Amino acid sequence: MIKDNIKFELDKGYIKKSPVNNGASLEIASSISAYSLAKRSGLFSVPEVLEFDLEANEIVFEYIQNISPVGSLLHHLGDEKLAEIFFRVGQILRYIHLSLEPDCGRYLIPKSIDFEGWKTFLHGDFNLINVQYDLLRDHIVILDWSLTPLLKKSANWGTHFWDIAWMINSIFCSPPYLTNDYLYRKMLAESFLLGYQQNSSNVIDKKAFSLYCQNVFELFLKKFQQRTDFLHQIVQLPNRFMFEKFSLSLGKEVNSLLCK
Ligand SMILES: Nc1ncnc2c1ncn2[C@@H]1O[C@H](COP(=O)(O)OP(=O)(O)OP(=O)(O)O)[C@@H](O)[C@H]1O
Ligand SMILES: [Mg+2]
Repeated sequence: MIKDNIKFELDKGYIKKSPVNNGASLEIASSISAYSLAKRSGLFSVPEVLEFDLEANEIVFEYIQNISPVGSLLHHLGDEKLAEIFFRVGQILRYIHLSLEPDCGRYLIPKSIDFEGWKTFLHGDFNLINVQYDLLRDHIVILDWSLTPLLKKSANWGTHFWDIAWMINSIFCSPPYLTNDYLYRKMLAESFLLGYQQNSSNVIDKKAFSLYCQNVFELFLKKFQQRTDFLHQIVQLPNRFMFEKFSLSLGKEVNSLLCK
């Protein structure tokens, strides 16, 4: 879906973005730091910031060709390949949490989605659309370094749980919903969590994280239920039933996912 806050200038090789919530300065700082991390690690790419105009709330990014959201790969690539990609996405997120150092202040995410424990600089909207994949190069590209617009706030710092939980929510609660595909989504979430934990078992505090997920997912479900306009937009009926079912069982599911 192409929104009107983005202008594509493909012949010039760039895109121009006006971040919502006037979040340009934080998005620029995170994107610049992430760009150099990505270059250093070779694990993923981030579009380079070519120019910006803070007064106009505008950022010009390098255009990266041939990428599609990892969400669009669901049910199109073989299970094994997808599991491998999601494992890598988990590894990359962990690396981001350990290394991202934007050259700006720390702006705390809303209290409703924060938690005690380890706080880091965050991606903020780590989901199946902002994580993209280049099929030809077998390469992961991460876009949109800003807190999800659903929270109506610009922020970059808080519990590492937020980015992990938001991706899990995205894996389970994004369309297309197909009959019996819960197990398939579970497999992707497991691979992502294994990648984040680099195959060791004590990187994520299981009890604290499943409590966190339960609270955050319930909060979002309530938000979505109140916003029928939004629900109709992203979760077309009759998918709504599946969406709510997935969303409600997630908090409990997370604990078992981590115990694998
Ligand atoms: N540098 C880029 N190269 C190629 N495609 C891009 C690039 N940046 C954005 N896109 C495309 O535009 C879409 C929207 O971009 P982006 O995620 O940055 O904005 P957004 O979702 O509107 O932002 P926000 O969530 O802050 O409102 C992406 O999903 C992707 O398809
Ligand atoms: Mg986006």
